[in-house]
Amino acid sequence: MDVVISPTPVSAASQAGAKVAEAIANNPRLVLGVATGSSPLGIYEYVRREIEENGLDVSGITCFALDEYVGLPEDHPESYHRVVAATVTEPWGLKPEQVHVPAGNTGNPRQAALDYDQAIKDAGGVDLQIVGIGGNGHIGFNEPGSSLGSRTRVKTLHPRTREDNARFFDGDMNAVPIHCVTQGIGTILDAGSVVMIASGEAKADAIAKMVEGAVSSNCPASALQLHPHVFVYIDDAAAADLQHRDYYDFAVANADKLPGA
Ligand code: F6R
Repeated sequence: MDVVISPTPVSAASQAGAKVAEAIANNPRLVLGVATGSSPLGIYEYVRREIEENGLDVSGITCFALDEYVGLPEDHPESYHRVVAATVTEPWGLKPEQVHVPAGNTGNPRQAALDYDQAIKDAGGVDLQIVGIGGNGHIGFNEPGSSLGSRTRVKTLHPRTREDNARFFDGDMNAVPIHCVTQGIGTILDAGSVVMIASGEAKADAIAKMVEGAVSSNCPASALQLHPHVFVYIDDAAAADLQHRDYYDFAVANADKLPGA
């Protein structure tokens, strides 16, 4: 993994945003995996500015969201259909048909999950996947105990995730849906590259386990160690529990000394 540690959440988001914008510039038909939650918002804002100020062309990209709650109407303000529309589709000026979100408000979410996994394959696979990390180490909504080979499927949200996400539901964890449709860990690992963004001390333990711990379903994000192209953008607070922080900083500082870099 390339671990890039920045002094603030804003600078971490700018570094990650630049990586995503560069990928779009290099491949105007990029298939981009988008995450929801607070962490990627700075990336989306960075890309929006690149579109507005530097003419970055997003007219040919396709986006696939990581996950969706089961049972929330698509126009509910906290449904990931609405969140992705408000944070990516609308600010970037994408057409709705460029953006895909799993169907969570359906009578058959299991079938919706299978259909979604197939839709990603039909699109040629995700080129670059943006992910955040849960305080319990989840990626997407692959909670601890998830199969590391899992495909898009229905999962039950962990109580810690429902507590963490209560802030989006007037502080009421009981208002947070119980189930979700999420890309599986195997689905995420199929992406060409992965950009992880995280900040704050609440993520420090999960980040250390993801980067330096054993590959284990106890920390689902640790499965990213098996992926050859993972870029981790974090702030000082999220880096606090890393044992080899000095080494990661040294690698970044010397990256341009490599012949051909
Ligand atoms: C969101 C998702 C989750 C979040 C994670 C972190 O689509 O799949 O894994 O990325 O829960 O959420 P924030 O960024 O709100 O701390």
